[in-house]
Amino acid sequence: MTTHASRAKIAILTSGGDAPGMNAAIRALVLAARKKDMTAIGFRHGFNGLLDNDFCTLSDERVRHIIHWGGTILKSARCAAFVSQESACSAAACLNQHGVKALVIIGGDGSMAGAAHLGLHWQGQILGLPGTIDNDLSGTDDCIGFHTATDTALDAIDKIRDTADAFERIFVVEVMGRRAGHLALSSGIASGAEQILCPEMFTQRAPDIDAISAHIRRAQRRRGKASYIIVMTESIWPGGSTDLAAKVTERIDGECRPCVLGHIQRGGSPVSLDRILATRLGTACIDAVLTGNNGVMLGLVRGALTYSPFAALRDNKAPDEALLSMQMAVFDD
Ligand code: F6P
Repeated sequence: MTTHASRAKIAILTSGGDAPGMNAAIRALVLAARKKDMTAIGFRHGFNGLLDNDFCTLSDERVRHIIHWGGTILKSARCAAFVSQESACSAAACLNQHGVKALVIIGGDGSMAGAAHLGLHWQGQILGLPGTIDNDLSGTDDCIGFHTATDTALDAIDKIRDTADAFERIFVVEVMGRRAGHLALSSGIASGAEQILCPEMFTQRAPDIDAISAHIRRAQRRRGKASYIIVMTESIWPGGSTDLAAKVTERIDGECRPCVLGHIQRGGSPVSLDRILATRLGTACIDAVLTGNNGVMLGLVRGALTYSPFAALRDNKAPDEALLSMQMAVFDD
């Protein structure tokens, strides 16, 4: 019989912007590890936990009934210090002190860069799971949290539509995504927004206030006074939605109001797609530990598991072409 002392140990941390479904991934990792006779610990507050030796035991009991929780029970943080050789060596010493065989890092591109950095200084296995509402990581079609954030944004935009309809108002709704337009494109299409402004639509030129306003005026001429919604990625317009709405107001008949959805997009109970994705990647990750995989992020591309070396990952995954053409097909120009 295997004694407790000889059981292999995995460690888990969540890092960067939290994403709904991170808890589902932690749960899947811990439960699947237990079935393979491994134990699990968690480091808190992202990479800071490795530097501060801030850890907790992850038992079955701890992860039972957390699949539906937003946020992350391990807390999250960005760790600016985790670029130096000294910090990676200190993290490696901490992992060795705990006898960790494999470290699983759940997060976005910054977290995967941290994983690659640690890999230069630690001999154990390091595996990544993509968790970011931005969905901008290459190596996977979907990142854990993206579907929930899209639905959260959609729910908010639907509500804005109600009041916009009632007042026949124009709104600019600003969604997260940093420099990536996945969230704007998906929530914009699903909400029937009249315009979507995301970086991938403006690779050749910057968005132009005259073109944006002209589209609104054409819609007003065609339909009379009516609600009109622009969904924009946070980074697409200098000054954000407040500035864009003010500039639009100067150019149209009526008033344009800004609405920044902000961090509500990161919270809430994960939708089924994120829970299932997190469970699929979490359980596959334990298999990957057993087969000796190292230095890769697991993902799903067209339904198949993929293992992308950290060094090959990019944070500018292009949106699905089908979504872009879908939007062009219904865009009323
Ligand atoms: O990367 C996730 C994300 O929510 C981005 O969409 C956003 O730009 C950023 O994090 C916000 O970061 P913070 O929570 O540090 O303000």
